[in-house]
Amino acid sequence: MAIVALASAKGAPGVSTTAVALTMLWHRPAVLVEADVSGTSAVMAGYLRASLPHDRGLVQLGLARRSAPLTVQDLWDNTLTLGPDRHLVPGLSDPAQGLGLSDLGHAEALPGIWAELTTVLLGLERAGVDAIVDVGRLGAAYGPVPLLRAADAVVLLTGTRLPDLTALDARHGRLVDDLQTNGAGSDALAVLPVGEGRGEHPAGESPYTVREITRGVTGAHVLQPLPWAPLEAGVYGHGFAARRRHQQSGYVRAINTLGASLQDLARRRQERLRPDAGQAPTIPVQETP
Ligand SMILES: Nc1ncnc2c1ncn2[C@@H]1O[C@H](COP(=O)(O)OP(=O)(O)OP(=O)(O)O)[C@@H](O)[C@H]1O
Ligand SMILES: [Mg+2]
Repeated sequence: MAIVALASAKGAPGVSTTAVALTMLWHRPAVLVEADVSGTSAVMAGYLRASLPHDRGLVQLGLARRSAPLTVQDLWDNTLTLGPDRHLVPGLSDPAQGLGLSDLGHAEALPGIWAELTTVLLGLERAGVDAIVDVGRLGAAYGPVPLLRAADAVVLLTGTRLPDLTALDARHGRLVDDLQTNGAGSDALAVLPVGEGRGEHPAGESPYTVREITRGVTGAHVLQPLPWAPLEAGVYGHGFAARRRHQQSGYVRAINTLGASLQDLARRRQERLRPDAGQAPTIPVQETP
């Protein structure tokens, strides 16, 4: 396993929250990369409740690569600790900083930081560390396209109302084409409904079910949905205190099930692309500052 990318087509279905939850509950050491350059870091003010200075992250990585290509050490120098074996590369503190990440803000220079970061993250796999990437909404200017194309599993999160699903259908089709043309195929792309069946409209319009989403979004591999659970999800999204029996909650069980599905997707993709990937020796994780 190496890189898992989470993204959305529309709205705010819970990409950042799910990325934090997956990172904290992941079965191996993990680094969460906030690569959503359309907004400011969700984790610094959310999970971390503004408890740490925002002086490391994407911007500092962008500066580091001006003198030489990014290294694993650059990455560790720009992470914060979320917990034992859980690390964070914080996103932006101002959306305008995104322009600086792609050399002078030119769209042609897009691969700049993202291509180098992809190489570094793929290298972390040899140290037994996986990367969870919050890509944010697809199609953002200067977004992390190379990371998305290189990911071993890509998850498109979605709400379950008609506007969510029409946006999803269009984006999903374009992403399939892009991964097949510019990536290594679309076999590790999956759709994750959040809050299936949530919020029946007073006029009687029902949200869509997994079965309907599978039928309606051409070629989609739809995963078991995440429940709508504001308090349990808020532990990861807003830094709420975990309630008693949080670990046994339906939300945590669903995140663990999601993690297992993603590991499975990624393993099958890696077996197809790199038949000997699973036999790489594991070396100790480098100490972080
Ligand atoms: N499974 C869930 N159940 C209930 N609430 C959730 C769930 N997932 C996320 N939320 C809540 O939904 C809101 C939006 O979540 P989040 O910021 O993670 O979405 P996002 O897709 O990253 O949005 P954006 O596109 O703005 O970055 C937050 O208040 C979060 O706590
Ligand atoms: Mg977000």
